[in-house]
Amino acid sequence: MADIKLPEVELNIYSKNNPVEVEVVENYVATKESSPNFVRHVTFDITGTDLVDRIRVGQSVGILPPGEDERGRPHRLRLYSVSSPSTGEHGKKHLVSTTVKRTIEEIDNNLYLGIASNYLANLKPGDKVRMTGPSGKRFLLPENALNFNYLFFATGTGIAPFRGMIQDLFSADYKNDCVLVFGCPYRTDLLYADYFEEMDDKNTNFHYLKSISRESRRKDGTKFYVQNQISDQKELLYPILNKENTLIYICGMKGMELGIYKELYKQGLTDYLEIKKSPEGSVDDIPSDKFKHFIKPSARTFEEVY
Ligand code: A2P
Repeated sequence: MADIKLPEVELNIYSKNNPVEVEVVENYVATKESSPNFVRHVTFDITGTDLVDRIRVGQSVGILPPGEDERGRPHRLRLYSVSSPSTGEHGKKHLVSTTVKRTIEEIDNNLYLGIASNYLANLKPGDKVRMTGPSGKRFLLPENALNFNYLFFATGTGIAPFRGMIQDLFSADYKNDCVLVFGCPYRTDLLYADYFEEMDDKNTNFHYLKSISRESRRKDGTKFYVQNQISDQKELLYPILNKENTLIYICGMKGMELGIYKELYKQGLTDYLEIKKSPEGSVDDIPSDKFKHFIKPSARTFEEVY
């Protein structure tokens, strides 16, 4: 097993008490077609700030929305995963991007819009934003990133770090295998689909698997969720998963990691797990809140769920 050493990264060069002002340079829809899930790709110009060259993919930046809540307190900081590569969006080191989904909720017949996500999604080129960061030091590609195979699992905007990581790998001379498994409700919700389709067409060592959950069902009646690709795509995935130099990364909605760990456990792929206590019955019967007492990710598995 190759040594998995994460790089040293800078943290919180700018904090909430000392944010930096950056300018928006682009803001476009990241879904393929019109989708009722509004997801946008927003790029900022960080020229002249200490963030240039210091944000690695896998990290987040903080956004401070202007204004105050109903109790007169300033809106709180929200973290957004960077979706540009470490070398910068469009190959420009002064450009950093994120991927944001508008949060919209209906409570008691009233519609609520998430403060930060809708603030970000409404921004236009030229608008100024208060930014902090970078944040996060655990969800990174290892130092010797080209020596590994990767199985990336993403749901929704959890795709953000993988977009940058895939660009980092394939802009270098990457020869190992990289699989992106992406889950979303409908085909209209696929994010950056054109880019990943093209990557899949052009690179025999890049594989793009889609798990569309609400359009059809698997033969056993269960939903197409990302974790089911482990058994549904055995021929492709087993040889990769059984290599010593393969790492798993998971990003997206909280709960998805448990489904993946259960599937890995059932398939005997336990090198990706740390078994604290073997379940007596089926792994499916372990309650979510007790799961970590039984099974945790091993050093070969990285998760960022929210
Ligand atoms: P569904 O909502 O049909 O149950 P988005 O962030 O765009 O809403 O996409 C999240 C995707 O993750 C959806 O396809 C959703 O399916 C799916 N999903 C929901 N719960 C889980 C889970 N526990 N494990 C894996 N995927 C999940």
